[in-house]
Amino acid sequence: MSPEDTEHLAAMLKQRSGLILGSDKTYLIESRLAPVARREGFANVAALLTSLRTRRDEKLIYTVTDAMTTNETFFFRDKTPFDQFKSDVLPALAKTRLSGDIKIWCAAASTGQEPYSLAMMMEDMRHQYPRINLDILGTDISERCLEKAQSGLYTQFEVQRGLPIQMMVKYFEKVDEMWRLSPKIRQAIRFRKLNLLDNLHSVGRQDVIYCRNVLIYFDLETKKRVLEQIANLLADDGYLFLGAAETVLGITDAFKPMTGMRGLYVKNTAAAATAPRRFGT
Ligand SMILES: C[S@@+](CC[C@H](N)C(=O)[O-])C[C@H]1O[C@@H](n2cnc3c(N)ncnc32)[C@H](O)[C@@H]1O
Repeated sequence: MSPEDTEHLAAMLKQRSGLILGSDKTYLIESRLAPVARREGFANVAALLTSLRTRRDEKLIYTVTDAMTTNETFFFRDKTPFDQFKSDVLPALAKTRLSGDIKIWCAAASTGQEPYSLAMMMEDMRHQYPRINLDILGTDISERCLEKAQSGLYTQFEVQRGLPIQMMVKYFEKVDEMWRLSPKIRQAIRFRKLNLLDNLHSVGRQDVIYCRNVLIYFDLETKKRVLEQIANLLADDGYLFLGAAETVLGITDAFKPMTGMRGLYVKNTAAAATAPRRFGT
């Protein structure tokens, strides 16, 4: 792999997905792109990278960008953001959302385990909140992940990671070697492709936003841009969940942490009041 090709790849990934390919991450190039090179008929990864630099093949650019994303996720990942939703966020919103509709956006939903965890949890609390309807949107840049999310099909390994056994029995059925989520849970989520670097206006007003384990891949300026767009979409009394290794501190004052609630943020209305007004956002 020539340094020129590697540099071009890094610049392309930053521009297309925000991913920063630091020098400590170059080992990922070979492992993630070898299958792409094989599938696309290149002799090796070096040949794929040269082609990427010298031809403007949009389809190949997208395939490579998608392959370089990290899609690690599992049901009820980190547990706390789901416990906090149940103990604090849902009771608060249930009081104020008189229509009963609560809008939730999982902004980097990967293969769907995060939004499906919320839908299963809500279904388990149906008797407690008969009036409440969670309107859940799951988005991701990766079509490959969204296809899997939409299928609702998971391997034995995937259903054994984080999912309580009672939920597996209640909401999944075995289909050959795989486990399929019940239509009721699958139908509770709308999935669509969305790049967080783009204008996010089409997502509309949200009550709760889960944006977990994606900002870690971006540089400071991109994190700031994404978080400020998210702040524009979040209801003034809404909630933002970030991943365990992520924060808004030192990036933007659009949000403030909720005391005693790790990873949970609310809008910083004091900062909004002093910020210059931006019309049309
Ligand atoms: C590590 S997964 C996190 C999944 C889930 N939120 C969780 O915490 O378990 C990160 C996801 O972010 C997606 N992603 C990366 N860059 C993105 C971008 N610019 N726009 C939207 N999604 C992106 C990846 O495709 C990947 O599925």
